[in-house]
Amino acid sequence: MSGEALLELAAVGVTYGHGATAVEALRGVDLALRAGEVTLLLGPSGSGKTTLLQVMGCMLRPSSGAVRLHGQSLAGRSLEELTRLRLRHFGFVFQHYNLFPTLKAWENVGIALDLKAVPREDIEAEATRLLAQLGIGELAGRFPSELSGGQKQRVAIARALAGAPRILLADEPTAALDGRTGQEVVRVMQALAHQRDCALLIVSHDPRVEEFADRVLHLEDGRLARRSRAEDAPCA
Ligand SMILES: Nc1ncnc2c1ncn2[C@@H]1O[C@H](COP(=O)(O)OP(=O)(O)OP(=O)(O)O)[C@@H](O)[C@H]1O
Ligand SMILES: [Mg+2]
Repeated sequence: MSGEALLELAAVGVTYGHGATAVEALRGVDLALRAGEVTLLLGPSGSGKTTLLQVMGCMLRPSSGAVRLHGQSLAGRSLEELTRLRLRHFGFVFQHYNLFPTLKAWENVGIALDLKAVPREDIEAEATRLLAQLGIGELAGRFPSELSGGQKQRVAIARALAGAPRILLADEPTAALDGRTGQEVVRVMQALAHQRDCALLIVSHDPRVEEFADRVLHLEDGRLARRSRAEDAPCA
């Protein structure tokens, strides 16, 4: 069922600080994100979820272990190269949307399109098309303050899709939304991941996210403790 591995982590460790105050945030993490697969990452506060997301998104170099993006090792890449790879291959969705309040919905998406080198004259149409895919095309001219939480998160998801990245990373995307709105937002993300053959990783404490995940991973004290039902099953 699962597609090609777009991102692979092997024996990844992250230690913050040195000596007596060092914190081992990740220990020996092995993990692959595959095309078309929705992964839910669960774990208590402080277990290393955000750290893992940062390593996956090329924002943090691991202290040990290896990361491969589309089969290519990231070892020894400069920060400029990592930034370029991040822009090209990833879309990010955050808990607090991170929209620019003084820009209209389509302009918020447009900034990401501009960063991804979409020609200026195509940006408004492309941004509006992405917003329409999220079901909010008619809200393209509104400012974030004129949108509901769920609508703001849809703008943020449209922005994450700019440049058609194959890997989508979402840190607590439903945390600021009420239950039903959160569920709708995850449903939309799941459908997009399946349609576009993207790997989608969602960090969440929200039990309602679970029904949209193809597999569930648990992080505890920096280790991946338990795998999904599917991977546990002998014949899966
Ligand atoms: N920049 C940093 N410097 C030092 N320690 C850090 C840093 N970032 C995180 N940590 C520590 O690393 C561990 C993992 O933190 P992380 O933020 O990855 O956890 P989390 O699972 O995302 O938690 P939460 O659910 O609260 O967001 C924690 O013990 C945290 O205090
Ligand atoms: Mg976190």
